[in-house]
Amino acid sequence: MRHPFLVPDYPHFLHGGDYNPEQWLATPEILAEDLRLAKLAGVNSWSVGIFSWAALEPEEGHFTFDWLDGVLEKMAAAGMKAVLATPSGAKPNWMAAKYPEIRRVQASGNREPQGGRHNHCFTSPVYREKVSLINTRLAERYQNHPALGVWHLSNEYSGECHCPLCKDAFRLWLQKKYGTLEKLNHAWWSAFWSHSYTAWEQIDWLDGSVHGFLLDWRRFTSDQTADFIRCEAAPLRRLTPNIPITTNLMGGFFPLDYRRLAKELDLVSWDNYPAYHSRENMAAIASGTGFTHDLMRGLKRGRPFMLMESSPSAVNWMAINKLLRPGVHRLKSLQAVAHGADSVQYFQYRKSRGSCEKFHGAVVDHVGHEHTRVFGEVAQVGKDLKKLEKVLGSTVPAEVAILYDWENRWILEEAAGPRKGLYDAYVDDHYRVFWRRGVSVDIVSAEDDLSGYRLVVAPMLYMLKPGVAESLQGFVEKGGTLFGGFLSGISDENDLVFLGGWPGPLRKLYGVWAEEIDYLYDDESNRLVPAEGCPFKSEAKARLACDLIHAESAKVLATYGDDFYAGRPVLTVNAFGQGKAYYLAARIEAAGLDELLGGIAGELRLKRALECHLPEGVTAQLRGDGKEEYIFVMNFTGQEKAMELPKGFFADLLEGGSVSGRLSLGAYGCRVLARSG
Ligand code: GLA
Ligand code: ZN
Repeated sequence: MRHPFLVPDYPHFLHGGDYNPEQWLATPEILAEDLRLAKLAGVNSWSVGIFSWAALEPEEGHFTFDWLDGVLEKMAAAGMKAVLATPSGAKPNWMAAKYPEIRRVQASGNREPQGGRHNHCFTSPVYREKVSLINTRLAERYQNHPALGVWHLSNEYSGECHCPLCKDAFRLWLQKKYGTLEKLNHAWWSAFWSHSYTAWEQIDWLDGSVHGFLLDWRRFTSDQTADFIRCEAAPLRRLTPNIPITTNLMGGFFPLDYRRLAKELDLVSWDNYPAYHSRENMAAIASGTGFTHDLMRGLKRGRPFMLMESSPSAVNWMAINKLLRPGVHRLKSLQAVAHGADSVQYFQYRKSRGSCEKFHGAVVDHVGHEHTRVFGEVAQVGKDLKKLEKVLGSTVPAEVAILYDWENRWILEEAAGPRKGLYDAYVDDHYRVFWRRGVSVDIVSAEDDLSGYRLVVAPMLYMLKPGVAESLQGFVEKGGTLFGGFLSGISDENDLVFLGGWPGPLRKLYGVWAEEIDYLYDDESNRLVPAEGCPFKSEAKARLACDLIHAESAKVLATYGDDFYAGRPVLTVNAFGQGKAYYLAARIEAAGLDELLGGIAGELRLKRALECHLPEGVTAQLRGDGKEEYIFVMNFTGQEKAMELPKGFFADLLEGGSVSGRLSLGAYGCRVLARSG
């Protein structure tokens, strides 16, 4: 199956990015030059208006759209599509001075000064009214404009506000959720330290010792942001029902539940700045980046997403802003496409002259012409995208799902007791196993429908919401394989611990009782000693966390080798209905996890993009529509790599002709092969 194009009736990748013509109004020749350069670079889209409020409404109620009219007209004449932004990401000075309530209040109670950006109150009726008004004006003016392609709401929504308006909204939210204080007190376990609430007004200061409170505050912040998005989108939906609406997300951004936000959007888009120039292992960064692309694609259940921002070279906000090595920009752009992006866009098209982003990578540098290394790399991507247009609308077919939830992240980081900082890195270790083998993965929520998958990986599923245990049981009963382990089934959606033994409602499914967890110092380890029928042969190392379990109905596949729990089970498998559930009680080193989970993937004969050995640092990722398959083979190392392709001929989409047999990739090389099924 094929998904619709990002821009209706526009069968091309969007290629371009953030452009700020309002910074160049006094030099119209710059705009003319930028259009000429766009053509040379194969750039067909600019994201405009993102921080333009002061240029669009220089005084209250006085609107100046003429400059934007001019930009959009020229773009239309050049056949370009605008990703047109609403300007709420930065409020004008006059507004902040006249209406202090729109400025955010910190948890300490201090109202923030005007300045910077991304710092408005999400609740303020004044701000909502102002946003609604300018969005209405924008939509009225450009509703039939041929350049209008996609709406870009605001910019990187983030943060929280503790002003009186937000506190009132939070109390209302709680009243709606719980109805009575009795129910709230129970959910928050507030008898602890005498924190019981006897009046709603007492819920005033965020109480970090009450985990139910923290969870609800984060949920409220996500809901309130989503509500603000709904308010921003309302006039656009009314006036331009056929123009898709998105906002630029930030991948694994911790504080906001992006699954909640995605419900308000037609398209998912995100800003991708992997540190490919850093000294860390590039393949590890690439696998983590692949994970985030898959996470973003999953927010709309597989629909192609937009890569909204990326830097064609350095950024300006890292400790050391090293240049991307030649070829890496292209590799990184094609990587996004491989995981489901139907656009490659940049921050920024032209470097600003002043202020804090003047040295951030851009398509057009201060020198102002096309004869730069970076411009050449961007133009190369422009050519590549033209050759890949058949890929548009296809998606990533996955047989594996990894469960990953924001609420689970929040509570694992809040929960006092377990070691912090384990979750994201451990999920990453699991993902890497599939990435190295070229097995496609979907990243889904524990509450999603799992029926289409063959393997579900559920690391550290600490919070079990109602219905999740039943869903996992149903999945395994019907023949699915589940892989989970320590810190699973600990507490419910309010972080109230399950009584009667861990992993709580998953105890029958895993066939184990988890009695207690030993957290190790960084330099300590334990050993996994394989037993009869164990999928791995070597002695893997356990680090950081060792769960002491009892096998109930499960079969023991490996035991601990050391310490007072030597001989106790560490890896078990439980037959359940037609499927099975593995429980890995310890956090094991990546190499051991690779052997174990890779072995399970092999046993299940999970589909791989290419059925051949992939050298270290190389992955193959698949997009397809059920008939055609597009295989992106990518080398995330600075050395040449070669491999022996499986039998048959593949069309080479970038270089033309066909390939078979030996395929070699230069440093940071990428090939896109097509196979008809
Ligand atoms: C973010 C923002 C952009 C810009 C870039 C710089 O993604 O959305 O406005 O600041 O970072 O990397
Ligand atoms: Zn507020």
